[in-house]
This record gives sequence, structure tokens and C-alpha cells, in this order.
Amino acid sequence: MMEPIRIALFASGQGSNFMAIHGRLSSMDDPPARIVLCVSNNPAPGAFEYARDHGIETLRLSPKMFETEEEYGRAGLAMLATRGIDMIVLAGFMRKLPEAVVDACTGRILNIHPALLPKFGGRGMYGHHVHEAVLAAGEGESGVTVHLVDREYDTGPTIAQARVPVLPDDTPETLAARVLALEHRLYPDVVIEQARKLLAERMLPPGGAICQ
Ligand code: GAR
Repeated sequence: MMEPIRIALFASGQGSNFMAIHGRLSSMDDPPARIVLCVSNNPAPGAFEYARDHGIETLRLSPKMFETEEEYGRAGLAMLATRGIDMIVLAGFMRKLPEAVVDACTGRILNIHPALLPKFGGRGMYGHHVHEAVLAAGEGESGVTVHLVDREYDTGPTIAQARVPVLPDDTPETLAARVLALEHRLYPDVVIEQARKLLAERMLPPGGAICQ
């Protein structure tokens, strides 16, 4: 039997998507993937607390810790290589990944965005800003997009989308809660599907990791 795909999960905040994905994988008899590392740009996000409680290694990686993009990239690549990471899952990670990491792991980095891309994406469109913009635009629906990550914000190929209605009395908070509940259902499904695809395609070199 093949070893499960080794995931590095990146989160900047509370990490509720992290918990949903980890919870789902943990409930499976034969999970296709395992979260082995939780990375954050913040020193003490809620996600780290959950990771420590569940025996998952935590690591801080922020562009602020480095003087150049090259150093940020080298640190990112070393972090993935030493832990044999196969796939990266961004779950509320509010910084750009190093370009060197994006280039090394093309097709193996997932992100979740709380709107129906290509609408309401791009620089500055994250968290509550997204829901405020959706309401300000008078949209009748919003939703969730899971996509592959490229060097830009929110522009990589879409893998899955799901929709929720925008209700007449919605506030950014009520809309965010409806979208987040949908994220928790969709993201674990997509992560599992992508991990199974990687295993089935036998893309793992013998004894090695994909992201190198
Ligand atoms: C989620 O709604 C996610 O879609 C969003 O941040 C939240 C993180 O929540 N991501 C972005 O806005 C990225 N552009 P979580 O920490 O509870 O998973």
C-alpha cells in the first residue's frame, strides 16, 4: 500500500478549514493524505494551538523574517524538502507563497477563496473584505472557490466551486458564516480527491516527495 500524501497546511488565523480537513482525514480508515506540518506567517495563530493538540508540527514562515524574496524562497523549499512534503494546502493563509515554492510545486498547491472567482479576487480581497465587496455589488449569490495556486493572487485554475444565496438582510458577518460552513464541506472533499489523484497517477518518485 502506498504511503499517504504528506500535506503542509498553511493558515494565518483560527484555522477552521484546517480543522475540517484534519477531522475528515482522521475519520477515514485508509486516508489518502496526512497533514504533517502546519505553517503560519503569524507567531501564534489559533491553527497552531489545534496543531499542537493533535501532534502536528508547527512552523512560522513569513516574508517579514527575510530580507529578500530569494531567502524566503530558499527557506520555503528547505522546509518542504526536509519534511518530504507532497502537497500544500492553503487554508486562510494571507501571504503570498515564495515564488520558488510555487514554481517547484505547480499543480500541487490548493487554495480556498470565499467567493466565486474570478469575481472578488486579487490583492486585498481576503476575509471580510470579500464579503463586504459582494454585498456592496448587490450580488444575488456568493460561494466558495478551490483553485490551484500560481504566482498571482487568486488566478490559478479552478478545481471546484459551490454556491450560497445572498439574503436581503445579510451583513458581512452572516454571509461569511454561510460561506465558511460551505468551505468546511467542500474543502475536505477536494483535498481528498486531489490526494487520491496524486496517488493514483503514481506521481510520487520512489522514496521521494513531489515538492522538491
Ligand atoms: C476562509 O474563509 C478562507 O476562505 C479565507 O479566509 C478564511 C480562513 O478561515 N481565505 C481568504 O480570504 C484567502 N484569500 P479559517 O482560518 O477559519 O479557515
